[in-house]
This record gives sequence, structure tokens and C-alpha cells, in this order.
Amino acid sequence: MYNKIAELSQIKGINSRHIKLLQENGISTAEMLAMSSQIVVSEIKGLGEKTVKTLIWNARNALNMTEFTPVSEMDENTEFFTTGSSELDRILGGGMQTGKVTEVYGPFKSGKTNLAHTLAVTVQLSKKKGGLGGSVAYIDTENTFSRSKIIRIAKRFKIDPKEALSKVFHARIFSSDHQDQMILKAETLCKNRNVRLVIVDSLMALLRAEYVGIGMLAKRQCVLNNMIHALSRIAEMYNAAILVTNQVAVQIKGLFSADDAIGGNIVAHGCHFRIMFKTKGFSSNSSLKRRAIIVDAPDLPPEECEFYITSAGVADSEEVDLPQAKSLEFDIETVYEESEDDDSFDEEDEDEESESSNIKKLTDIKGIGKGTLESLKEQGIHSVEDLLDADPKELSSKISGVSNSMIEEWQKQAE
Ligand SMILES: Nc1ncnc2c1ncn2[C@@H]1O[C@H](COP(=O)(O)OP(=O)(O)OP(=O)(O)O)[C@@H](O)[C@H]1O
Ligand SMILES: [Mg+2]
Repeated sequence: MYNKIAELSQIKGINSRHIKLLQENGISTAEMLAMSSQIVVSEIKGLGEKTVKTLIWNARNALNMTEFTPVSEMDENTEFFTTGSSELDRILGGGMQTGKVTEVYGPFKSGKTNLAHTLAVTVQLSKKKGGLGGSVAYIDTENTFSRSKIIRIAKRFKIDPKEALSKVFHARIFSSDHQDQMILKAETLCKNRNVRLVIVDSLMALLRAEYVGIGMLAKRQCVLNNMIHALSRIAEMYNAAILVTNQVAVQIKGLFSADDAIGGNIVAHGCHFRIMFKTKGFSSNSSLKRRAIIVDAPDLPPEECEFYITSAGVADSEEVDLPQAKSLEFDIETVYEESEDDDSFDEEDEDEESESSNIKKLTDIKGIGKGTLESLKEQGIHSVEDLLDADPKELSSKISGVSNSMIEEWQKQAE
């Protein structure tokens, strides 16, 4: 279904006021409406219950969602990409899967954020090399995203670090409704920017802080339910992979076991794959060895495996091949942080210089692909000269997924 996204305007009986109201509430395509529940859409002020029912039914009819399909005619379009550890790939049945929501939970330091960073790069690899050739939307609620880690992982997988960074769309999140908003925004990125992986690291951190006490539980679960449904819908609609990370409950008088992920049934049932990461059994302060356990999966045996955290992401062994790094000491983080913008990647810098002198059209600029070109044209930017004249702030506010600093970087190249 993901390759034939239909516009809202194609739905029978819809008018421009309906479209505006739906879009304002994050429903931007016919598929999104067709997969929505009448109860939820009826909450939108200005849309009557009857109208909502008709529009949703018409959308479903238009998309052939109101017929049963013989299974022999169903498309099998699941794709896999590597986690960076062949053992983890093995227990996952071939790697991280598209079309599904995967939850990874575990105690602090267990490697969740490391996996998120690794996947943010491996999804970019070509299909031949174990990736999907896609970009990633990274929803960061804990401020633990690290550019330098992405650079190191890119070097490990022999991807140009600058290109790798340009394909990671990052959003720092400050509240649970902001998180909700950006999950919906990620849908637009799937549509326009070839995003094939959406990461929420971590799913519960803000909800946990905002909805405190038993009295808030029902409300919190309702917000959570909406988020998980939106993620699940994105997974299916765009055949994208979704990774959510989650924490574990603190043990309170035997009520919860230390292994329980938080979020209750909503998360447990909403996620298709649940994987537990463990530090236990290893001396977690000195060892970077971790254990992964398949807790729940529709068609996988309950296996477990070991993997390692390295300075360049999740791997099978303590050491990974990293250009310019002989050992994987912790201080590598600082070394690369400092050298990232100077001469640490001489070859690439040279490449870029020679390229930048050859910039004639917009697509000669690194970071501007076909999708972005279309978005730029819509804003009246047809040539390199137009781009140089544009105000980065104003332009970035009009194009989703393009930041102020990206435009400034393009202008630098164009100059
Ligand atoms: N550059 C590095 N090289 C090797 N190991 C590292 C490096 N940076 C971090 N680590 C290790 O990774 C672990 C932290 O992993 P990560 O941040 O993925 O955990 P997490 O599960 O996301 O934890 P939290 O619940 O706190 O978010 C720590 O044990 C740390 O020692
Ligand atoms: Mg983390």
C-alpha cells in the first residue's frame, strides 16, 4: 500500500474545509484517514459525526479496504536490515524488520541508544550491503543523540559521514504532546524524504515524568495508545521499520519484577516485536557485552544472544574496524568530536572541494535529492542563484524536514 499514497482530495464527498481540518489534526493522506478510527476523528471540532463516518468509509472504499483478500494475492513486502550484530540479526529472523513496531527495553546502559544509532546508519546502506537505502527520523526525548557516534558508525560501514548525517532527521523533544506531534510529522518525512526507519528513544521518558500518580494513568495510557497506533500505521503505510526504546520498572515491593517494561498492556500489545536487553550476568561496569532476549514476536522462537557495545555502535565483538582508530578507547568520542570538522577525513574534504567548484544546478549540492528539489521548487527556488538569495530561516520553516542549518550548509557549498 505504501507505494500508492492517495491525497485527501481524492476522497468522494470531501471539501476543502474538511481537508484543512483533517490536515491541522495530522491526517494528511487518504490512507491515514482510512486507517483512523471514527471515534478519534469525530473529536475534531467542526467535523460532524456523520461526515466523519462517510469520509472514512469513502476513503476505505477508494483504497479497497472494504473487501477480504485471498491470501494468495497478498504482497509479501517485508524487508530486513542489519543491526550491526549478526547474532542479533539471527534471533530477529534476519535483522530489523519493516512494516512492524519493534520495542527494545532494558535497564540503563543496556545498549538501547547504541542500537538506535547503529540502525540510523545501517538503514542507509544499500540493499546489497544489508540496508534499505533509506533515511531515518530520530525522535530524541532524552537528549542522548550523538552526531559523533553517527560519524564513527558511518566510517565503520564505509559510508561518507557527511552523507550519513544528512540522512538522519533529528528532533529533540521536550514534552509528550511535542512527541505526539513529531510522530505525525515523521509520517511526512516517510512520504517526502525516503525515511524508512522511525526511532523513538525513549518512548516513555516524558510521559512518565508528566503523568505522575495513579490518577493520571488512564490519561497517560490514552496518549500512549495514540502514539503507538500512529507509529504502527506509519510502519504499515510506508513499509517502514519502527524502533521504540523503553525503560524497565523499578522493583516496588514485589508488585513489578525488575524485568518489566513500563507502559503496561498498551505498549506490550501495541508493539509487534519485544526485545529485552540485559546487562546482568556481566560485570556491567567494565564489560560492554550485553544479552538480547526475544520476549514476544509473532513468528519467532524465544531465543537469546550476546552482542557488544563498541564506540561505533552494536557489534559481534569488542573491536570493530574503524578507519584511523587502532583501539576503541572511550576517549575516541572526544578525539572525533574535536576532529570531526577539521582534517580528520581528508579524502572526503578534498572530494567536496572539487565537487563544490562544479556546482551548476541544485542537485549538484550534497544533500539535495529529487524529493528536496521538488520541495524547493514549490517554494520558488529553481536555481543555485535562487538558493543563495533565500533566507534560510524563512525557507526552512516552509519545507518539512529541512532545517535552517541544512540550508546554510547548501548555501556554503553553492558559494
Ligand atoms: N564510545 C564508546 N565506546 C564503548 N562503549 C561505549 C561508548 N559510549 C558508550 N558506551 C557504553 O554504552 C553504554 C550505554 O549504552 P546506551 O546509551 O545505549 O544505553 P541505554 O540502554 O540507552 O541506557 P539509558 O536507559 O540510560 O538510555 C554504557 O555502558 C557505556 O559504557
Ligand atoms: Mg538511552
